[in-house]
Amino acid sequence: MNERRSSCETDENEVSRDNVRDFYSKAAVTAQESLCCPTQYDDGDLSHIPEEVRGISYGCGSPVNRASIRQGEVVVDLGSGGGIDCFIAAKYVGETGKVFGIDMTDEMLGVAQNNAVRVAENLGYSNVEFKKGFLEAIPLEDNSVDLVTSNCVVNLSVNKKEVFKEINRILKPGGRFLIADIISEKEVPVDMRKHQELWGECISGALTLAEFLEAARPNGFHGFHIGKDYLWKIVEGIKFYSYTVEAFKAHESESSCCSSLTATYAGPFDSIIHDGTTYPLGIAVDIGKETAEKLRSHPYSGQFIITDPDAETPAESESDSDSCCG
Ligand SMILES: C[S@@+](CC[C@H](N)C(=O)[O-])C[C@H]1O[C@@H](n2cnc3c(N)ncnc32)[C@H](O)[C@@H]1O
Repeated sequence: MNERRSSCETDENEVSRDNVRDFYSKAAVTAQESLCCPTQYDDGDLSHIPEEVRGISYGCGSPVNRASIRQGEVVVDLGSGGGIDCFIAAKYVGETGKVFGIDMTDEMLGVAQNNAVRVAENLGYSNVEFKKGFLEAIPLEDNSVDLVTSNCVVNLSVNKKEVFKEINRILKPGGRFLIADIISEKEVPVDMRKHQELWGECISGALTLAEFLEAARPNGFHGFHIGKDYLWKIVEGIKFYSYTVEAFKAHESESSCCSSLTATYAGPFDSIIHDGTTYPLGIAVDIGKETAEKLRSHPYSGQFIITDPDAETPAESESDSDSCCG
């Protein structure tokens, strides 16, 4: 019980935010090869972004370009670093939208703020603002944001549960998060968790997928989409993967009347992909009614446990569970 708690809410003695901050204040000034994941950005997304920003891009995925951003949306990037994802989002949301970058490291904020001026010149409008703050205490109003992104940062937090609480607080009802992060194939051993350098390199603070979802779920997020993108590193025999996880904050009407169906893959493989969604072994994934029907049928029959958390009887026998949220 204690062991599981410590994975999401790390003992401050094991690692501190100051260490992570020191690590990234250096990485803002001198590019760190060991941190550069093979993130693929589209050239068209980068053309307005100065080289200095691209040179200190330390993400592990492309959350912004996968988030179907609409013009006029308010987007927040957590752990914005040199600002690459904020600047990409700035183009997607357009002049009527707004992008906030949140970071705790002065040197990173300095690079981002300086380059925001050039990005604004290139785009012809200014819609990006960087704020100093922690993921665990985001300096933004409640219910004020359409989309939260984060690229390889949640693993660095010493209190992941608090991060998801904060994401839930700032999102508007119906808003969404899309997070790229490093996920470990099995629980990171305590000794490795104490390793400051490996923590800074996005290894020691990584959670398993089950732990990551355990930190996110209590906040009422639903509609989880989980993508396993690539194997990043093997450290002390443990595999670390880049994943992208998306989920939605419930609309007010949904939170009182409905919660989604879930499907838990029961094996025999580590995971299975259906319609672009990964169902990891033993982990409940939110699904809609139509998907539930498909997963109950050939060729999947018998491989998934399908439940409705609010129903007293199994979801299979429910007839009107979608009466007020489609
Ligand atoms: C791996 S870098 C990623 C930067 C950026 N997302 C990118 O793709 O280039 C991690 C960034 O998150 C910031 N960071 C780490 N932990 C944080 C926390 N708890 N609160 C705020 N910022 C944090 C660091 O200062 C650093 O800029």
